Amino acid sequence: MTASTQVAIVGAGPAGLLLSHLLALRGIDSIVVENRSRAYCEARQRAGLLEAGTTELLRGVGLGQRMDAEGLEHGGIYLQFAGERHHLDFKDLTGGRWVTIYAQTEIVKDLIQARLAAGAQLEFEVSDTEVADLDQDRPLLRYTDAAGTRHEVRCEAIAGCDGFHGICRDSMPPGLVQVAERGYPYSWLGILATVPPSTDELIYARHEDGFALHTMRTRQVSRLYLQVSADEDIERWPDDRIWAELRHRLGVPGWQLKDGPITEKAITPMRSFVASPMRYRRLFLAGDAAHIVPPTGAKGLNLAMADVTVLATALTSLLRDGDPAPADAYSDASLRRVWRATHFSWWMTSMLHVDPGPDRFGPELQLAQLRYVTSSRAAATTLAENYTGYYPLHWP
Ligand code: FAD
Ligand code: DHB
Repeated sequence: MTASTQVAIVGAGPAGLLLSHLLALRGIDSIVVENRSRAYCEARQRAGLLEAGTTELLRGVGLGQRMDAEGLEHGGIYLQFAGERHHLDFKDLTGGRWVTIYAQTEIVKDLIQARLAAGAQLEFEVSDTEVADLDQDRPLLRYTDAAGTRHEVRCEAIAGCDGFHGICRDSMPPGLVQVAERGYPYSWLGILATVPPSTDELIYARHEDGFALHTMRTRQVSRLYLQVSADEDIERWPDDRIWAELRHRLGVPGWQLKDGPITEKAITPMRSFVASPMRYRRLFLAGDAAHIVPPTGAKGLNLAMADVTVLATALTSLLRDGDPAPADAYSDASLRRVWRATHFSWWMTSMLHVDPGPDRFGPELQLAQLRYVTSSRAAATTLAENYTGYYPLHWP
């Protein structure tokens, strides 16, 4: 089967779905192909924290209804170390900025529902996705649909929103893409539990035995993370051990961690990875397809949505107005924001995780930095400004 569209989007994660939605608002047609099922995409547990600019964008493009009803607005976080819990008041530090807890699963559900209601072409459970003719002005997307029919879609641009393990980044010409990356000698064990959060705002705890984070999804569902070793086996973590370790690392006098049934647990490796450029002619990479940050500081999802906001404007200029300048600027503009978030995520990660090494130098530096961030308004403001989102998003 052959067809044509303006933009072929690979991947129905937050980046691909939001891009398709934004393009439709500008009258640009797209197809989105996704190799997982709709149910899988809607249930995949990942991020949960939105920068102020991300919520403003979602609201501005008609996707804020459920987020506004169900999301939890937080005006700060707790930083815990040396057995003491300190509050950082973002609203005070940044002149009113905040963050919102609203799970990635819910954003994906809202986006899929909005795209299908608008009659969008959204194909789940495709296989053998390929992009071709990338040196031409009308490249090609090929895929096999869920029923086994092979399709070829001629388009004017391809958006690689297919995540870290997708095919688009590797389809760029050999030698073009430069990678800068950093591994970390630990992973996160994350759980979802049916129990009201034991805190009003997120707790980031540096403990001698490893980092712990108490976050949440709703007023009834808690999300918690523990630093574990890079090669940890989840089988070694029965539920009782997880709760005991969380109580140990998050505990402060006079505070209790409520436990409850664990409905999901998984181990996520930590990595910083930036591929550049994010564009080759009419192929544009966005989100995790181009860059990965360690989760500390919750930048991955926000970066993915910021990329496609810039990309939607660039593609509109290119395809509707014949102006290539914003598309030419896309990679450099995105990479500036990506590197800022890469630095912040690396900094938060390095400050809060215990490195498996015997020397005292690293831990003492961490404690010095944590004392500084919790005692100097200038240092606290740096954290708050980065956390709530330093770069404003423009969606005219
Ligand atoms: P993705 O969400 O990865 O979407 C890419 C989509 O492309 C997927 O649906 C995939 O199935 C599809 N795809 C891949 N290959 C193909 C193909 N060949 N053909 C068709 N479709 C394809 N960020 C945070 O901020 N906080 C967190 O707590 C957090 N936790 C995370 C936990 C895990 C396990 C992971 C993997 C990531 C986490 N992140 C977190 C990062 C955040 O979830 C991502 O940055 C975000 O999902 C990026 O969105 P995306 O649309 O770019 O990529
Ligand atoms: C969440 C994850 C993070 O990495 C973080 O820094 C804050 C919140 C979350 O899953 O809610």
